[in-house]
Amino acid sequence: MAKKFKVVVTRRIPEAGLQLLKKAGFEVKISPYNRILTRPELKKFVKGADAILSLLTDKIDGEILDAAGPQLKIVANYAVGYDNFKIDDFKTRKIYATNTPGVLTETVAEHTIGLLFAIAQRIVEADEFVRQKKFRGWEPMLFLGTDVRNKTLGIVGLGRIGGEVAKRMRDGFGLKIIYFDVKRNKELEKELGIKYVSFSQLLKESDFISIHVPLLPTTHHMFTLKEFKMMKPTAFLINTSRGAIINERDLVTALKKKIIAGAALDVYEFEPKITPDLLKLPNTVLLPHIASASIETRSKMAEMAAKNIIAVLRGGKPINPIF
Ligand code: DGY
Repeated sequence: MAKKFKVVVTRRIPEAGLQLLKKAGFEVKISPYNRILTRPELKKFVKGADAILSLLTDKIDGEILDAAGPQLKIVANYAVGYDNFKIDDFKTRKIYATNTPGVLTETVAEHTIGLLFAIAQRIVEADEFVRQKKFRGWEPMLFLGTDVRNKTLGIVGLGRIGGEVAKRMRDGFGLKIIYFDVKRNKELEKELGIKYVSFSQLLKESDFISIHVPLLPTTHHMFTLKEFKMMKPTAFLINTSRGAIINERDLVTALKKKIIAGAALDVYEFEPKITPDLLKLPNTVLLPHIASASIETRSKMAEMAAKNIIAVLRGGKPINPIF
């Protein structure tokens, strides 16, 4: 009997993806731990794998690829972002790398909008106040927030998710949308009725700034004290992309000194660590990297990662190659 391909999954993911892999006839090994694997554990766990289904919390580089062995053909990331992959190491070893683009676009866009409203209207702060049994009845000055309609939203990175946020905020809430991207997209500008501006113009004109760029050497620390000082003191920053695009220490300074009005974050520079002072500030909304976390979307991501593995192990090309 032919040897079964071995697929290792570094942490339990929705059943939809696992079922596809099992039905395809592979030996599927799921990490027994409900936590991020340590580096030595990961190296041991991938040994002998023909395919790895990885998470954004697994750093996949040459050392891990070599630990798997020469039979390894593909690593499918259960995420659209792949800054956890050392791409050059994949290229030199001719191993496929895939991600999950498209299926999470709308969920992340909805989540981003949820964060925008949460910070503007002080929803989390006010919820906490009620839970602490401090509500004594209606008050004229209680938790005054900021209106969202007719304001200017600056989108940093007009990719799939940025475009979806722009469309919904313009159509649904009447905001003026401006954007900055390294690549200008005139077609989408026309389609969405939005305006391209320089990064500094975006910083100066926006009432809300939402970050949608991938983490690259060129986007690392795109937001530092210098950029915060260019923003309006009434402006809010929303980040559902990657934490290290913001210098978190500088953000704390900007929030403490009221250089900007607030920040709503789903991601952190040194995830899962969070700069302690951020936790103490009332003008923040802080979530545990859950922008794609709907039952439907996470199942689709699992299926997509599984389908890439199936395609490659059956001798074909991956559906969502990264390079
Ligand atoms: C991604 O896919 O990159 C998100 O951060 C998690 O879904």
